[in-house]
Amino acid sequence: MTGDVLVFGSLNVDLVCRVERIASPGETVLGPTYERLFGGKGANQAVAAARATSSEVSVRMAGAVGADELGDAVLANLKTHRIDVTAVTRASEATGAAFISIDAEGENAITVASGANRTLSADRLEGMPHGEGTVLLLQMETPHAASIEAARSIKAGGGTVVLNLAPVPARPAPAFIRALCDPVDWLIVNEIELSAAGQAIGIADGSLRDRASRLSDALSLGVIATLGARGVVVAEPGAEPFTQAALDISVEDTTGAGDTFCGVFAAGLAEGLDVRLAVRRAAIAASLACRRLGAQTAMPTRGEIETFIDLQ
Ligand code: RIB
Ligand code: NA
Repeated sequence: MTGDVLVFGSLNVDLVCRVERIASPGETVLGPTYERLFGGKGANQAVAAARATSSEVSVRMAGAVGADELGDAVLANLKTHRIDVTAVTRASEATGAAFISIDAEGENAITVASGANRTLSADRLEGMPHGEGTVLLLQMETPHAASIEAARSIKAGGGTVVLNLAPVPARPAPAFIRALCDPVDWLIVNEIELSAAGQAIGIADGSLRDRASRLSDALSLGVIATLGARGVVVAEPGAEPFTQAALDISVEDTTGAGDTFCGVFAAGLAEGLDVRLAVRRAAIAASLACRRLGAQTAMPTRGEIETFIDLQ
């Protein structure tokens, strides 16, 4: 059965500057110029999903932008990717903006001015599909209480909930992690987020694989740890974890690689792929997304992902 992807999350405009190295506190570094690109973890994940899916899978976005020119541009961009934006509202606050520095190794540092994203509430999901075929994709750049409510409502309708724990708050409370993860089927974390979630519920030591596996058992959900060039670890409750390698590519900019993984994974679930294949496609897409500057600008198409599936 083919389903649909519903992304509930942030939309930003990214101001991206390449620098030799990222500034330390109190320091100023000079870069040559900047680019204005479309971003926000929610919007990035929706675009990644739309590029990767077959045309039978619809991708919808629920979020908030400002009643400003940047908001117009953000909406127009989503529409060019065939993403349904009927659940994106215009708020009185400004469209979210991210200030991104990329260093010579392709690593980044990001400051987000949340703006309109702070107004997102779960009532945006009224009128959106809530059935078994729906894969809801959430991140942590919009109000957490709204995400929990959205997740519960999709879960109640029989849908699948995928949470990308990015960015994770510093030292999250145990009760918060448990409430957040309760309606979630798949939790996607990077190394920092795995540590933060683990520590919150008393899983502090052991290998990454071991911690992912214990987190999966403790929260009764699938845990996917994305580890950059070291690939991906996938743990499901009561099962032996498996790993998926990353592609060996030269890295230009890692911004949006995690978002690409999440969007392509959710699209795979909506298409009815088994978890291993959905993870494999997502890992390939995330590697390919590191080859160019920017988040959405670097995301591969379905055809590109398939070329690499055939090569592996
Ligand atoms: O994950 C990358 C994204 O994080 C950027 O596009 C930026 O907008 C921030 O939200
Ligand atoms: Na990139």
